[in-house]
Amino acid sequence: MTTDLSTDPLTAPAEQAAPWWRGAVIYQIYPRSFADGNGDGTGDLAGVRARLPHLKSLGVDALWFTPWYSSPLADGGYDVADYRVIDPAFGTLDEAEQLIAEAAGLGIKTIVDIVPNHVSDQHEWFQAALAAGPGSPERQRFWFRPGRGEHGELPPTDWESSFSGGTWTRVTDPDGTPGDWYLHLFAPEQPDLNWNHPDVRAEHERVLRFWFDRGVAGIRIDSATMPVKDPALPNEVTPDAHPFVDRDEIHDIYRGWRAVADSYAEPRVLVGEVWLADPHRFARYLRTDEMHTAFNFDFMMRPWDADELRTAIVSTLDAHGPVGAPPTWVLSNHDVTRAATRYGREDSSFGFVARAFGIPTDLAKAQRRARAAALLSAALPGSLYVYQGDELGLPEVEDLPLDVLQDPMHFRSGGTDPGRDGCRVPLPWTSDAGSAFGFGGTPWLPQPANWGDYSVERQDGDPRSMLTLYRTMIALRRSEPALRGEEFAWAAGDGDDVLAFRRGEDLLCLVNFGETAVDLPSHLEVLLASGELTGSQLPTDTAVWLRV
Ligand code: NOJ
Repeated sequence: MTTDLSTDPLTAPAEQAAPWWRGAVIYQIYPRSFADGNGDGTGDLAGVRARLPHLKSLGVDALWFTPWYSSPLADGGYDVADYRVIDPAFGTLDEAEQLIAEAAGLGIKTIVDIVPNHVSDQHEWFQAALAAGPGSPERQRFWFRPGRGEHGELPPTDWESSFSGGTWTRVTDPDGTPGDWYLHLFAPEQPDLNWNHPDVRAEHERVLRFWFDRGVAGIRIDSATMPVKDPALPNEVTPDAHPFVDRDEIHDIYRGWRAVADSYAEPRVLVGEVWLADPHRFARYLRTDEMHTAFNFDFMMRPWDADELRTAIVSTLDAHGPVGAPPTWVLSNHDVTRAATRYGREDSSFGFVARAFGIPTDLAKAQRRARAAALLSAALPGSLYVYQGDELGLPEVEDLPLDVLQDPMHFRSGGTDPGRDGCRVPLPWTSDAGSAFGFGGTPWLPQPANWGDYSVERQDGDPRSMLTLYRTMIALRRSEPALRGEEFAWAAGDGDDVLAFRRGEDLLCLVNFGETAVDLPSHLEVLLASGELTGSQLPTDTAVWLRV
């Protein structure tokens, strides 16, 4: 006897629960700036544990922690000295295990960050490579090369670092003479690993298991297009023949990682940091035996403009469709200017090169748009990332004193790029300035005097606050079947200044980017609006979810 699965109510596709990561809300924690449990001014795991109720009440499904491992913090932890040790500034491995378990007890999963492209120059492998000298097996795990020029005084290539400047640093050999150069696509404190070396591959698979065995649900993969290099190290860099970005051989690494992730009874999830302009090259990372999802930076970088965002949505959905992976929606993270500042600028797009001091912004407008953008991104099918503090509407802190800045992007730009510290300022929990607004200690970056206005305490229970908007929005994503599903269609009204799309049978999302209010279509119920509706109209810079 055969069973017609399509009519069996228990197994019909619509009834099967989608894997959690396809529609999850994932909250990004930058541990240094989230909450300080021991009063030393640096956020830590004790602080996160104490604030788990906040995350529970926000309704998120998972937490992504930027690196919490032992690190000299030359690049905010993306210079990992030892993956098996929690940085003492953040706590202990024991506390990390407790945190993972406590979060799981609240129904919240944990994602950790893995940084395959490079390690810290303090990592034991790199220290061993320096000590062992030229031509040693220890140096094979990195990219050591003799320099060009008569005396090797010129770097092996002229490649430019993502952090400005060159990508090679010359070492002094154990005998005191100038020696070879090593490759670092980022800061000199972040030597690049050689992924052609079997140790590099084996060690990373062990690291994955180390954290998967401790109950983490997945990993976020840093700079995921960059670990593989053309071994010939050609000097020339063109978009078509790129020696260190998106090399075809890279996919084999992630296939190996996927096999590790799939070997668990509850398969673990791979999320890639994939910055690629070409949506089709991007989608190759999401084939069914590679990563599960990857950050959608195209959407994040677009200006506040209906056509621009529509283009990003269309190309995102088109690229993901054929590989069957869900899109992700991201408004900001620890590397970019916060939405609640950026959207008030004349040019509200994001680009690393365009970053500068003193760009004027209209904060009230940015706040209004950040609210609408939250509703827009939360209404799209796929998973949603919330960067800590976005749920409070925190703006970028643009007037940090120069002498407190820490970001290598600032220093390596020669001081023209303000860097990424302004989106990393410790969070305000209360309105009490005396306790660093509930963060604790003397924060490693100073908080603005008005930070208390954005605090959780101030916003809690206020029906008009950003926090209330985020809580309601996330709760609706969970409770509305149309938002849990993956159905999406453009709707009547979608046009020059308005984005309009339908989710499932009965839910309509509209966002007005224009300068004048537009009429709402007939509807049964307003589920949620990002601002006050004027009669039956949707004002400028406002989004609404309607039941139709
Ligand atoms: C991307 C991370 O998000 C960023 O913070 C870091 O500086 C670089 N990768 C290098 O690891």
